[in-house]
Amino acid sequence: MANEGASVVVADIDASAAARVAGDLGSRAVVAEGDVADESSVARMVETAVESFDGLDVLHNNASDASTAAADTDLVTLEMAVFDRLVAVNLKGVLMGCKHAIPQMLARGGGSIVNTASIDGVMGRGVRAAYGASKAGVVLLTKSVASQYGSRGIRCNAVAPGLVLTPAVAGLTHEKLELASRSYPMPRLCAPEDVANAVLFLASDEAAFVNGTTLMVDGGASIYMPSSQVAAAE
Ligand SMILES: NC(=O)c1ccc[n+]([C@@H]2O[C@H](COP(=O)([O-])OP(=O)(O)OC[C@H]3O[C@@H](n4cnc5c(N)ncnc54)[C@H](O)[C@@H]3O)[C@@H](O)[C@H]2O)c1
Repeated sequence: MANEGASVVVADIDASAAARVAGDLGSRAVVAEGDVADESSVARMVETAVESFDGLDVLHNNASDASTAAADTDLVTLEMAVFDRLVAVNLKGVLMGCKHAIPQMLARGGGSIVNTASIDGVMGRGVRAAYGASKAGVVLLTKSVASQYGSRGIRCNAVAPGLVLTPAVAGLTHEKLELASRSYPMPRLCAPEDVANAVLFLASDEAAFVNGTTLMVDGGASIYMPSSQVAAAE
């Protein structure tokens, strides 16, 4: 978004990482440190945008706590504290982002919200039931916001990426990445820029009549049966 000329608030629980990103972007970026699971933090993030840039046009709800992944494997052994944290960050955080951004957008005559869901929010994967449920909530929340505020000029859409090569998956071994890539009918895995471009489109006026949709950014994984590789090899 910054590359396309936007002034941005880089909001993250990790202040030094946010400062690094904002530093790379130059004077049109400011930092807001905060936990999206905490309502006063979310309110402060929105206030930072309004105070720094006189208003807010676009909100991208993207935070997720990757450290919960290792504890979100088998539903039967899942600690409820892990579930609570996942839902607090992934779902309540998105809801509170919308809650605090919408009044500011209404004051400017409209705006655009993009939420990051996941392929795990639309398909079962055999693990990460809590994460998947939180992301399925994001898909529905997106439709709710779109249907409630579309008539007042606020669009709300989501992206649902498959596996993306970000720091969150840096721990995956070469073998696991190789195995994962078999789920994708593509010659490569998803880069962060693939998701950023989809978010940018949904946020922009080019998507002026796109509202309430969840755009799969999964290289076709959700429409692909990996067993087709068997057929292709025959
Ligand atoms: N990487 C993937 O394979 C993948 C796939 C599908 C969806 N996603 C989604 O994409 C989004 C971005 O994920 P990523 O892969 O870039 O992860 P990441 O861990 O690299 O980045 C997530 C960012 O969120 C921040 N964060 C974590 N908890 C926070 C909190 N409570 N408040 C504020 N900031 C917080 C982290 O500090 C980090 O900067 C997430 O919503 C994730 O669920 C990722």
